[in-house]
Amino acid sequence: MASVLIREAKEGDCGNILRMIRELAEYEKLSDQVKISEEALRADGFGENPFFHCLVAEILPAPGEPQGSCMVGYGLYYFIYSTWTGRNIYLEDIYVKPEYRGTGQDWGGKKSSPHRPPHLLPRNRSLWSFLIPFSSDNPSFCFFLPTSGQGIGSKIIKKVAEVALDKGCSQFRLAVLDWNKKAVDLYKALGARDLTEAEGWHSFRFEGEAMRELAGK
Ligand code: ACO
Repeated sequence: MASVLIREAKEGDCGNILRMIRELAEYEKLSDQVKISEEALRADGFGENPFFHCLVAEILPAPGEPQGSCMVGYGLYYFIYSTWTGRNIYLEDIYVKPEYRGTGQDWGGKKSSPHRPPHLLPRNRSLWSFLIPFSSDNPSFCFFLPTSGQGIGSKIIKKVAEVALDKGCSQFRLAVLDWNKKAVDLYKALGARDLTEAEGWHSFRFEGEAMRELAGK
């Protein structure tokens, strides 16, 4: 059976990562805010002083299977600093392609997704798409997948927690839109605290004209 590998992204993955960034923004109904380019990702993530780090989830073929691997998810994070607790990590994005979502062994034997009947092939795939030769450059041509969810999102989150501890971080932060119940439930189930609920924090940002005005530019 195909398996999942969570690994550090390489510069050559930026095209696939950008496609998934756009898919996540579409899911979040904020596509118009995506201005990033593949070149910027390459420069900012893979230069001498990277601004971010990225993990990718790759489906690997079982031994003897002819297909290549394909990328089905990512988690993009960077390091931040708290004056209260010191080194922290911030998970900016986490995304798993819809056909590969859902829990498997990571929830201690919980059944596979109720909205996905057991089958061997990804949902929403036409027969035609299986006739196109696999290309690892285009994840939409992914050919195979595990028969049930493998908790890929949880695996990415666990890996980020591992990196955080290895780098001496005491906190692992992230933000999620209030209507995104599935993601909220997953974070809570994994042990995260909702800071808006618990402490009343609101998230702010300066941008565009407001930022230029502040900077006098
Ligand atoms: N007990 C048991 N199961 C639980 C619990 C719980 N307390 N809480 C959640 N789960 C289940 C969910 O129901 C789901 O299982 P199901 O779909 O089989 O019912 C499962 O845990 C989700 O866990 P994973 O399988 O480990 O995660 P997945 O691979 O589905 O990835 C993710 C999660 C990344 C949120 C994915 O659903 C996704 O990409 N969603 C769309 C984009 C998104 O919302 N991204 C996060 C935005 S916020 C940010 O980026 C920081």
